[in-house]
Amino acid sequence: MTGEEEIAPQGIDVATPHIARIYDYWLGGKDNFASDWAAAEQVMLTTPTIKPGVTANRAFLSRAVRHMVGEGVTQFLDIGTGIPTANNTHMVAQDADPESRVVYVDNDPIVLTHARALLAGVTAPTSFVDADLRDIGRILEEAARLLDFGRPVGLLLIAVLHCVPDDEDPRGIVRTLLDALAPGSFLAITHPGIDQLPEQMAAAEDALTKAMGFRVTFRTREGGSAFFSGLDLLDPGVVPLQDWRPDPDALPTATTGMWGGVARKP
Ligand SMILES: C[S@@+](CC[C@H](N)C(=O)[O-])C[C@H]1O[C@@H](n2cnc3c(N)ncnc32)[C@H](O)[C@@H]1O
Repeated sequence: MTGEEEIAPQGIDVATPHIARIYDYWLGGKDNFASDWAAAEQVMLTTPTIKPGVTANRAFLSRAVRHMVGEGVTQFLDIGTGIPTANNTHMVAQDADPESRVVYVDNDPIVLTHARALLAGVTAPTSFVDADLRDIGRILEEAARLLDFGRPVGLLLIAVLHCVPDDEDPRGIVRTLLDALAPGSFLAITHPGIDQLPEQMAAAEDALTKAMGFRVTFRTREGGSAFFSGLDLLDPGVVPLQDWRPDPDALPTATTGMWGGVARKP
Protein backbone atom coordinates (compact mmCIF):
# COMPACT_ATOMS: atom_id res chain seq x y z
CA MET A 1 0.00 0.00 0.00
CA THR A 2 1.40 3.46 -0.87
CA GLY A 3 1.38 6.34 1.60
CA GLU A 4 -1.36 7.97 -0.44
CA GLU A 5 -3.55 4.88 -0.37
CA GLU A 6 -3.18 4.83 3.41
CA ILE A 7 -4.50 8.38 3.81
CA ALA A 8 -7.15 8.19 1.08
CA PRO A 9 -10.74 7.64 2.22
CA GLN A 10 -11.70 3.97 2.06
CA GLY A 11 -12.72 2.75 -1.36
CA ILE A 12 -11.24 5.73 -3.22
CA ASP A 13 -9.00 4.90 -6.18
CA VAL A 14 -6.19 7.44 -5.94
CA ALA A 15 -4.11 5.92 -8.73
CA THR A 16 -6.51 7.11 -11.45
CA PRO A 17 -6.95 10.85 -11.82
CA HIS A 18 -10.49 12.07 -11.24
CA ILE A 19 -12.18 15.17 -12.62
CA ALA A 20 -13.38 16.41 -9.19
CA ARG A 21 -9.90 16.14 -7.67
CA ILE A 22 -8.16 17.60 -10.75
CA TYR A 23 -10.57 20.53 -10.53
CA ASP A 24 -9.89 20.82 -6.78
CA TYR A 25 -6.15 21.01 -7.55
CA TRP A 26 -6.69 23.87 -10.01
CA LEU A 27 -8.77 25.68 -7.40
CA GLY A 28 -5.92 25.35 -4.90
CA GLY A 29 -7.71 22.72 -2.75
CA LYS A 30 -6.08 19.92 -0.77
CA ASP A 31 -8.30 16.99 -1.74
CA ASN A 32 -6.20 15.59 -4.57
CA PHE A 33 -3.46 13.01 -5.08
CA ALA A 34 -0.31 12.55 -7.19
CA SER A 35 -2.21 11.12 -10.17
CA ASP A 36 -4.52 14.16 -10.10
CA TRP A 37 -1.62 16.66 -9.86
CA ALA A 38 0.10 15.00 -12.82
CA ALA A 39 -3.04 15.18 -14.97
CA ALA A 40 -3.81 18.74 -13.85
CA GLU A 41 -0.26 19.95 -14.57
CA GLN A 42 -0.32 18.22 -17.96
CA VAL A 43 -3.42 20.18 -18.93
CA MET A 44 -1.90 23.42 -17.59
CA LEU A 45 1.12 22.97 -19.89
CA THR A 46 -1.02 23.28 -23.00
CA THR A 47 -3.88 25.30 -21.49
CA PRO A 48 -2.54 27.85 -18.99
CA THR A 49 -5.94 29.57 -18.88
CA ILE A 50 -7.45 26.57 -17.11
CA LYS A 51 -6.52 27.71 -13.58
CA PRO A 52 -7.94 31.26 -13.86
CA GLY A 53 -10.79 29.67 -15.82
CA VAL A 54 -11.97 27.45 -12.96
CA THR A 55 -11.78 30.39 -10.53
CA ALA A 56 -13.89 32.45 -12.93
CA ASN A 57 -16.28 29.49 -13.19
CA ARG A 58 -16.86 29.58 -9.41
CA ALA A 59 -17.46 33.33 -9.59
CA PHE A 60 -20.05 32.76 -12.34
CA LEU A 61 -21.83 30.25 -10.09
CA SER A 62 -22.11 32.89 -7.33
CA ARG A 63 -23.45 35.54 -9.72
CA ALA A 64 -25.98 33.16 -11.23
CA VAL A 65 -27.25 32.00 -7.82
CA ARG A 66 -27.49 35.56 -6.49
CA HIS A 67 -29.46 36.53 -9.60
CA MET A 68 -31.90 33.66 -9.09
CA VAL A 69 -32.43 34.48 -5.41
CA GLY A 70 -33.04 38.07 -6.50
CA GLU A 71 -35.81 36.72 -8.75
CA GLY A 72 -37.42 34.94 -5.78
CA VAL A 73 -35.97 31.44 -6.32
CA THR A 74 -34.89 29.87 -3.03
CA GLN A 75 -34.55 26.20 -4.03
CA PHE A 76 -31.51 24.86 -5.84
CA LEU A 77 -30.54 21.58 -7.45
CA ASP A 78 -26.78 21.62 -8.06
CA ILE A 79 -25.70 18.58 -10.10
CA GLY A 80 -21.98 17.87 -10.44
CA THR A 81 -21.30 19.73 -7.23
CA GLY A 82 -17.58 19.05 -6.93
CA ILE A 83 -15.49 18.86 -3.79
CA PRO A 84 -16.69 21.54 -1.37
CA THR A 85 -14.76 24.77 -1.71
CA ALA A 86 -15.28 28.44 -0.91
CA ASN A 87 -18.65 29.93 -1.88
CA ASN A 88 -20.57 26.72 -2.33
CA THR A 89 -24.10 27.10 -3.62
CA HIS A 90 -25.74 26.84 -0.18
CA MET A 91 -23.41 29.52 1.20
CA VAL A 92 -24.21 31.97 -1.61
CA ALA A 93 -27.95 31.19 -1.63
CA GLN A 94 -28.39 31.17 2.14
CA ASP A 95 -26.36 34.36 2.44
CA ALA A 96 -28.86 36.00 0.06
CA ASP A 97 -31.88 34.28 1.67
CA PRO A 98 -31.36 32.13 4.79
CA GLU A 99 -34.45 30.06 3.89
CA SER A 100 -32.83 28.78 0.68
CA ARG A 101 -32.82 25.02 0.21
CA VAL A 102 -30.03 23.29 -1.69
CA VAL A 103 -29.69 19.72 -2.91
CA TYR A 104 -26.25 18.74 -4.16
CA VAL A 105 -25.76 15.77 -6.50
CA ASP A 106 -22.48 14.15 -7.52
CA ASN A 107 -21.41 10.66 -8.53
CA ASP A 108 -17.92 10.77 -7.02
CA PRO A 109 -17.32 9.00 -3.68
CA ILE A 110 -14.65 11.49 -2.61
CA VAL A 111 -17.06 14.37 -3.19
CA LEU A 112 -19.61 12.51 -1.07
CA THR A 113 -17.11 12.01 1.76
CA HIS A 114 -16.26 15.70 1.85
CA ALA A 115 -19.85 16.80 1.42
CA ARG A 116 -20.91 14.75 4.45
CA ALA A 117 -18.22 16.44 6.54
CA LEU A 118 -19.20 19.87 5.22
CA LEU A 119 -22.90 19.40 5.76
CA ALA A 120 -22.44 18.04 9.29
CA GLY A 121 -22.13 21.61 10.57
CA VAL A 122 -24.83 23.15 8.38
CA THR A 123 -28.16 23.82 10.04
CA ALA A 124 -29.88 25.36 7.00
CA PRO A 125 -31.79 22.95 4.71
CA THR A 126 -29.12 21.38 2.54
CA SER A 127 -28.70 17.77 1.46
CA PHE A 128 -26.50 15.61 -0.72
CA VAL A 129 -27.51 12.90 -3.18
CA ASP A 130 -24.98 10.34 -4.36
CA ALA A 131 -26.22 9.86 -7.93
CA ASP A 132 -25.24 10.05 -11.55
CA LEU A 133 -26.54 12.89 -13.69
CA ARG A 134 -27.98 10.25 -16.04
CA ASP A 135 -30.06 8.73 -13.23
CA ILE A 136 -32.75 11.41 -13.44
CA GLY A 137 -35.54 9.46 -11.74
CA ARG A 138 -33.43 8.89 -8.64
CA ILE A 139 -32.18 12.49 -8.54
CA LEU A 140 -35.71 13.89 -8.70
CA GLU A 141 -37.06 11.40 -6.17
CA GLU A 142 -34.29 12.12 -3.65
CA ALA A 143 -34.35 15.89 -4.26
CA ALA A 144 -38.11 15.96 -3.65
CA ARG A 145 -37.42 15.16 0.02
CA LEU A 146 -36.11 18.73 0.39
CA LEU A 147 -37.33 20.66 -2.65
CA ASP A 148 -40.92 21.50 -3.55
CA PHE A 149 -41.14 20.86 -7.29
CA GLY A 150 -44.43 22.77 -7.38
CA ARG A 151 -42.36 25.94 -6.96
CA PRO A 152 -39.48 27.27 -9.09
CA VAL A 153 -36.05 25.68 -8.70
CA GLY A 154 -32.63 26.90 -9.80
CA LEU A 155 -31.02 24.02 -11.70
CA LEU A 156 -27.23 24.32 -11.78
CA LEU A 157 -25.18 22.31 -14.26
CA ILE A 158 -21.86 23.99 -13.70
CA ALA A 159 -18.90 22.46 -15.53
CA VAL A 160 -20.42 18.98 -15.61
CA LEU A 161 -22.14 18.45 -18.98
CA HIS A 162 -18.81 17.86 -20.73
CA CYS A 163 -18.69 14.59 -18.74
CA VAL A 164 -21.65 13.29 -20.77
CA PRO A 165 -20.80 12.47 -24.40
CA ASP A 166 -23.22 13.26 -27.24
CA ASP A 167 -24.13 9.59 -27.72
CA GLU A 168 -25.53 9.56 -24.16
CA ASP A 169 -27.96 12.34 -25.05
CA PRO A 170 -26.99 15.13 -22.63
CA ARG A 171 -29.63 17.42 -24.19
CA GLY A 172 -32.33 14.84 -23.50
CA ILE A 173 -31.09 14.61 -19.88
CA VAL A 174 -31.34 18.39 -19.43
CA ARG A 175 -34.78 18.46 -21.12
CA THR A 176 -36.10 15.73 -18.81
CA LEU A 177 -34.80 17.56 -15.74
CA LEU A 178 -36.41 20.78 -16.95
CA ASP A 179 -39.72 19.02 -17.58
CA ALA A 180 -39.89 18.29 -13.84
CA LEU A 181 -39.43 21.95 -12.90
CA ALA A 182 -42.16 24.56 -12.39
CA PRO A 183 -42.49 27.60 -14.66
CA GLY A 184 -40.26 30.39 -13.38
CA SER A 185 -37.42 27.94 -12.70
CA PHE A 186 -33.93 28.83 -13.88
CA LEU A 187 -31.15 26.86 -15.56
CA ALA A 188 -27.49 27.91 -15.28
CA ILE A 189 -24.85 26.11 -17.32
CA THR A 190 -21.12 26.54 -17.76
CA HIS A 191 -19.29 24.43 -20.30
CA PRO A 192 -15.73 24.20 -21.63
CA GLY A 193 -15.76 25.61 -25.16
CA ILE A 194 -13.98 24.08 -28.11
CA ASP A 195 -14.35 27.25 -30.18
CA GLN A 196 -12.77 29.59 -27.64
CA LEU A 197 -8.97 29.26 -27.67
CA PRO A 198 -9.50 26.23 -29.96
CA GLU A 199 -5.97 24.82 -29.92
CA GLN A 200 -5.59 25.09 -26.16
CA MET A 201 -9.01 23.70 -25.41
CA ALA A 202 -8.59 20.79 -27.85
CA ALA A 203 -5.33 19.92 -26.09
CA ALA A 204 -7.06 20.12 -22.69
CA GLU A 205 -9.93 17.91 -23.87
CA ASP A 206 -7.47 15.36 -25.18
CA ALA A 207 -5.28 15.40 -22.04
CA LEU A 208 -8.26 15.00 -19.68
CA THR A 209 -9.75 12.19 -21.75
CA LYS A 210 -6.46 10.28 -21.79
CA ALA A 211 -5.68 10.85 -18.10
CA MET A 212 -9.08 9.85 -16.75
CA GLY A 213 -9.89 7.00 -19.08
CA PHE A 214 -13.25 8.43 -20.06
CA ARG A 215 -14.14 10.86 -22.78
CA VAL A 216 -14.83 14.50 -22.02
CA THR A 217 -16.61 16.51 -24.69
CA PHE A 218 -15.93 20.21 -24.99
CA ARG A 219 -18.62 21.95 -27.06
CA THR A 220 -19.05 24.99 -29.26
CA ARG A 221 -21.10 28.00 -28.24
CA GLU A 222 -23.88 26.65 -30.46
CA GLY A 223 -23.65 23.24 -28.78
CA GLY A 224 -23.79 24.87 -25.34
CA SER A 225 -26.69 27.12 -26.36
CA ALA A 226 -28.72 24.08 -27.45
CA PHE A 227 -29.11 23.07 -23.79
CA PHE A 228 -31.26 26.19 -23.28
CA SER A 229 -33.67 25.33 -26.07
CA GLY A 230 -37.29 26.26 -25.22
CA LEU A 231 -36.23 28.59 -22.38
CA ASP A 232 -35.97 32.38 -22.18
CA LEU A 233 -32.26 33.05 -22.30
CA LEU A 234 -31.26 35.98 -20.08
CA ASP A 235 -29.04 38.75 -21.42
CA PRO A 236 -26.26 38.67 -22.46
CA GLY A 237 -26.94 35.10 -23.68
CA VAL A 238 -24.36 32.33 -23.81
CA VAL A 239 -21.06 34.17 -23.52
CA PRO A 240 -17.51 33.60 -22.28
CA LEU A 241 -18.47 33.07 -18.66
CA GLN A 242 -16.36 35.89 -17.28
CA ASP A 243 -18.52 38.25 -19.38
CA TRP A 244 -21.83 37.08 -17.91
CA ARG A 245 -23.02 40.04 -15.81
CA PRO A 246 -19.63 40.66 -14.19
CA ASP A 247 -19.70 42.28 -10.76
CA PRO A 248 -19.17 46.03 -11.23
CA ASP A 249 -16.08 46.05 -9.01
CA ALA A 250 -14.55 42.86 -10.50
CA LEU A 251 -11.14 43.10 -12.09
CA PRO A 252 -11.13 42.17 -15.80
CA THR A 253 -10.63 38.41 -16.22
CA ALA A 254 -8.63 36.92 -19.07
CA THR A 255 -10.34 34.59 -21.55
CA THR A 256 -11.29 31.40 -19.73
CA GLY A 257 -12.18 29.10 -22.61
CA MET A 258 -15.57 28.43 -21.02
CA TRP A 259 -19.12 29.36 -21.99
CA GLY A 260 -21.77 30.32 -19.48
CA GLY A 261 -25.44 31.25 -19.60
CA VAL A 262 -28.63 31.45 -17.54
CA ALA A 263 -32.21 31.00 -18.74
CA ARG A 264 -35.71 31.03 -17.25
CA LYS A 265 -38.39 28.43 -17.89
CA PRO A 266 -41.48 30.27 -19.22
C1 LIG B 1 -15.30 20.01 -13.10
S1 LIG B 1 -16.13 19.56 -11.62
C2 LIG B 1 -17.21 20.96 -11.39
C3 LIG B 1 -17.60 21.18 -9.96
C4 LIG B 1 -18.55 22.35 -9.70
N1 LIG B 1 -19.83 22.20 -10.38
C5 LIG B 1 -17.94 23.65 -10.12
O1 LIG B 1 -18.17 24.08 -11.25
O2 LIG B 1 -17.17 24.22 -9.36
C6 LIG B 1 -17.26 18.33 -12.27
C7 LIG B 1 -18.02 17.58 -11.17
O3 LIG B 1 -19.05 16.81 -11.79
C8 LIG B 1 -19.05 15.50 -11.25
N2 LIG B 1 -19.56 14.59 -12.27
C9 LIG B 1 -18.97 14.22 -13.42
N3 LIG B 1 -19.76 13.39 -14.12
C10 LIG B 1 -20.89 13.24 -13.39
C11 LIG B 1 -22.08 12.49 -13.58
N4 LIG B 1 -22.25 11.74 -14.66
N5 LIG B 1 -23.02 12.54 -12.63
C12 LIG B 1 -22.85 13.31 -11.50
N6 LIG B 1 -21.74 14.05 -11.28
C13 LIG B 1 -20.76 14.01 -12.20
C14 LIG B 1 -17.60 15.24 -10.88
O4 LIG B 1 -17.49 14.23 -9.89
C15 LIG B 1 -17.16 16.60 -10.39
O5 LIG B 1 -17.40 16.75 -9.03
